[in-house]
Amino acid sequence: MTAPANPGPERGRLIAVASGKGGVGKTFLAITLAHAMAARGSRVLLFDGDLGLANIDIQLGLVPARDIATHVGTAAGVLAAVQPCPPCGFDWLPGRSGAAHLTALAETTLAQLLHGLRAATDRYDVVIADLAAGIDPPARRIAATADTLLLVATDDPTSLTDAYAVLKLHAADGGSTDRAVVINQVQSPAEGRRAFHTLARAAENFLGITPRLAGTVRRDPRVRDTIRHQTPLLTRHPQAPAAADIVALARDLTPERRVARGGERVPAAGAADPGPPGGRKDA
Ligand SMILES: Nc1ncnc2c1ncn2[C@@H]1O[C@H](COP(=O)(O)OP(=O)(O)OP(=O)(O)O)[C@@H](O)[C@H]1O
Ligand SMILES: [Mg+2]
Repeated sequence: MTAPANPGPERGRLIAVASGKGGVGKTFLAITLAHAMAARGSRVLLFDGDLGLANIDIQLGLVPARDIATHVGTAAGVLAAVQPCPPCGFDWLPGRSGAAHLTALAETTLAQLLHGLRAATDRYDVVIADLAAGIDPPARRIAATADTLLLVATDDPTSLTDAYAVLKLHAADGGSTDRAVVINQVQSPAEGRRAFHTLARAAENFLGITPRLAGTVRRDPRVRDTIRHQTPLLTRHPQAPAAADIVALARDLTPERRVARGGERVPAAGAADPGPPGGRKDA
């Protein structure tokens, strides 16, 4: 692991990025959020938790030196596969595409993986896990272990219906009550808020749970452009509307952490000043 241990008793926050329906923008959002949080000075680990169909490396144009497929179940554990992503300012725990055995991990191996992610919160302010779409057991388990469920949906009715199913199972699994929703690919923030309220009303009425709106992200042709060029949005198009939306989301989701002296809670380093996206302020 490349980050030093957290100074105080505070742990970082594990955020699970999930969705019911696939292709809603989880991986793009997880990468851009990690980038924006790192630019604010947080120590961030991005885990490619789409086990067996990993594609953070594709979106970032990186070739992993090692990945969890070779480390899961070993004595060193999955964190031995952590490596830096220098242009992004965060560390990265790669998955492996086409590794079918990762989608059907044995209970003990899955437990080791969850333990590794928890252990990572000792060293990072934020650990972001980009999950597979849907309700397969590994995604459910990681989501249920997380401090925050970051549920991504579009305003498409099928996406909202599937997001509702994720909320239902997350509650049944005893997951954290911090359930934050992002409505992605919206024409306007107002349209995104309307979609969120539809979902939230159903969750409150039928499940008795109250998700919160973490933010909306506008549909933006530059997103596709950055993915095609395998470059982070905040590097290639820092002024894009979608970039602004995710920088705002990062501000909302950046955890506070305890400073060594005085014990008062302060925002993580750099949080008061979002600064220009696109790189670590301390780089
Ligand atoms: N805000 C946006 N504006 C325009 N296009 C977007 C936006 N967000 C995501 N996309 C497009 O959606 C596509 C899918 O994104 P991504 O791979 O991140 O989704 P995913 O939810 O991780 O998919 P999967 O469920 O297969 O893992 C991308 O090709 C991207 O171009
Ligand atoms: Mg994905």
